[in-house]
Amino acid sequence: MAGLWKGHRTVLRKLVNVFTSFPLEGLVSPAILHRCRFCTVRKCEEKITDKQVVLGIETSCDDTGAAVVSSDGQVLGQALASQQDLHLRHGGIIPTLARQLHEDNIQQVVDTALAEARISPQDLTAVAATVKPGMALPLSVGVQYGKDLALAHNKPFIPVHHMEAHALTARMLYKIDFPFLVLLVSGGHCLVVLARALHQWSIIGSTLDDAPGEALDKGARRLKLRNLPECAGMSGGRAVEHLAKSGDPLAFTFPSPMLQHADCSFSFAGLKQCLFKIAESLEGEHGVVGGQVVPQVNDVCASFQHAITGHLLRRTHKAMVYVSVRDLLPPHAQTLVVSGGVACNQYIRGALQRLCDTAGYQLIVPPPHLCTDNGIMIAWNGMERWLAQIGVLYNSEEIEAVRFEPRAPMGEDLSEDVRTLRIKAPKAIKF
Ligand code: KG4
Ligand code: ZN
Repeated sequence: MAGLWKGHRTVLRKLVNVFTSFPLEGLVSPAILHRCRFCTVRKCEEKITDKQVVLGIETSCDDTGAAVVSSDGQVLGQALASQQDLHLRHGGIIPTLARQLHEDNIQQVVDTALAEARISPQDLTAVAATVKPGMALPLSVGVQYGKDLALAHNKPFIPVHHMEAHALTARMLYKIDFPFLVLLVSGGHCLVVLARALHQWSIIGSTLDDAPGEALDKGARRLKLRNLPECAGMSGGRAVEHLAKSGDPLAFTFPSPMLQHADCSFSFAGLKQCLFKIAESLEGEHGVVGGQVVPQVNDVCASFQHAITGHLLRRTHKAMVYVSVRDLLPPHAQTLVVSGGVACNQYIRGALQRLCDTAGYQLIVPPPHLCTDNGIMIAWNGMERWLAQIGVLYNSEEIEAVRFEPRAPMGEDLSEDVRTLRIKAPKAIKF
């Protein structure tokens, strides 16, 4: 029997090599080997799945997401249940409520993704789930569900780092070789990192206080944008962008944070506080009360967005100078990938395009639905890890032992090295 199985593997190896041009080892899940229609071994009577497929599950914040992707980057099925409307009404995310909603929705979301992909859990190559970083209670739901699913169907389990998944989504769409520079801008994070390899990340700069999405969300709340019908149902960042389109970005003066700092850290709390002061003074000036919105709201949003953009631009530019001083990217293949919810913003994208044009970088930003939280990015990260056989757990004890981690740095921190170089602020870029 062992000899027959070995012979079968040889036939299958040749077939898979023809299909995928990849070596078989580590790439074809046991499930696929067991489902071969090209041989007569009894346990291989069914059809062969010539695609490797990973299910990804995301519950780190307020979106319950699931998706099935194949090794060639096709999204075979996906579903997303957003809690945004509810949390907008509460003025922020309530962790216990978020957990309850994830629990209520996760089965349906996974079922929809699998049904759209026309597969059952048994057909999966592996199950991936966000295990870090994020809000503890929401994370706990996806981690438990993913582990249970993997164990119930005897599938490998792949723990995923949420920010790493944001950073690698672009590789599902474009050919981007390591190393490359990444700017991650979301509601919970702001990082400029060097992606050296799938599991090797170096942090060049991160935020000392708020993330840009957090500043935008709190700013939008302070300006009561939710009361404007045209902004109903929009996230804070999206509402600010929408109103800013018909505003003057230079109407109000905001500070330029951290100009004197030697590193590439970010800080958005001062910009947020400045917005609060502007709102207060305008409300007093115009007798704005209750749920009313100040008359110059478009100008305020445009100026706030402009200030946030300028700060992001200056710090990313400095990170590029650091990369060049330390020779961290090949000079003729420099790419900046931008992702996270704030990367949906067209004004910020436009400004970063100017920066990249000036600095000789190629700019890659995934489409908006892949910048905000989703199951696809988790499934793709799982697939990349599966293909490289990095961080794949097979053993049930190992899978059971996986715990969620609300805080988890992406990699080594280079900010001390950045500081020692005392890089001067590069020449300002107009945007
Ligand atoms: O990545 P994400 O979906 O969740 C986190 O991991 O945080 O990002 C959500 C953030 C929110 O703060 C939201 O206001 C912001 O992304 N955002 C935007 C835009 N769309 C979403 N910020 C600026 N402009 C937008 N168009
Ligand atoms: Zn995110």
